[in-house]
Amino acid sequence: MVEITTLSELTIDGKLSLGPKASSKDLFDFYESDLRVWFHEQRASHAAIMVGSGTVISDDPELTVRHAPGPNPLRIIPSSTGRLPLDAKLLNDGLATIVVVSRMAKIVDVEALAMKPNVEVLECGESSIDLVALMDILDGRGIKSMIVEGGSRLLHSLHQAGLVNRIIIKHIPVITGSTEAPSYMNPYALGGAFDLSRWRLVECFSKGGIAVTIYEPLALRP
Ligand SMILES: NC(=O)c1ccc[n+]([C@@H]2O[C@H](COP(=O)([O-])OP(=O)(O)OC[C@H]3O[C@@H](n4cnc5c(N)ncnc54)[C@H](OP(=O)(O)O)[C@@H]3O)[C@@H](O)[C@H]2O)c1
Repeated sequence: MVEITTLSELTIDGKLSLGPKASSKDLFDFYESDLRVWFHEQRASHAAIMVGSGTVISDDPELTVRHAPGPNPLRIIPSSTGRLPLDAKLLNDGLATIVVVSRMAKIVDVEALAMKPNVEVLECGESSIDLVALMDILDGRGIKSMIVEGGSRLLHSLHQAGLVNRIIIKHIPVITGSTEAPSYMNPYALGGAFDLSRWRLVECFSKGGIAVTIYEPLALRP
């Protein structure tokens, strides 16, 4: 089983970024280096790291461990079509990345990704990525822990599938005032709303004025 931890920065008004087209990297400006070190220690303590294709497009993240000692986790990007920006940092730095595509992906897009250094393309799912099947494949490859850093649609799908074991929230003390900025989850994209799930607070601390809360499920849904 792959233990999944989601790690998100959330504003007071429950947003993942300052506006609809904004990068979540803008939220980094609101905290200091000691929290950044802790954040990268979390990355280093997981075998894999995942963000959705939307985050690759909006944020162009590296998803590496730079502010703390430790290994880089294997990067995993679900993208049904395989149409990612070919100049994305994580496709070009030579560090290991798996792009997960569906059967819908065109050969030309798959080939363009597979030409990138140390990028593997894995097919899993008919029209979007089957996250449950993907976790089984990764488990079979010995990947036992994964940190998921968003965005909204991917978090929604993981929660909907009951795959999340731990939630970490960095509470950024700003109110965006934007109704269009993405929220922690996005029920409009894939699959719609789902049942209530209850979580218990297992840890709570603050670093440089930013509260960090960690939750685990009271009971995992069957
Ligand atoms: N504050 C934070 O902690 C944080 C962290 C990360 C991102 N963000 C913000 O979140 C926003 C991006 O969120 P987003 O919802 O647009 O994108 P996202 O969740 O990063 O990516 C969603 C995309 O992933 C692909 N996908 C493939 N299989 C999927 C599945 N089973 N479930 C869900 N998605 C699947 C789909 O695109 P395809 O058509 O390519 O398959 C889908 O549209 C940006 O504003 C970013 O800045 C914030």
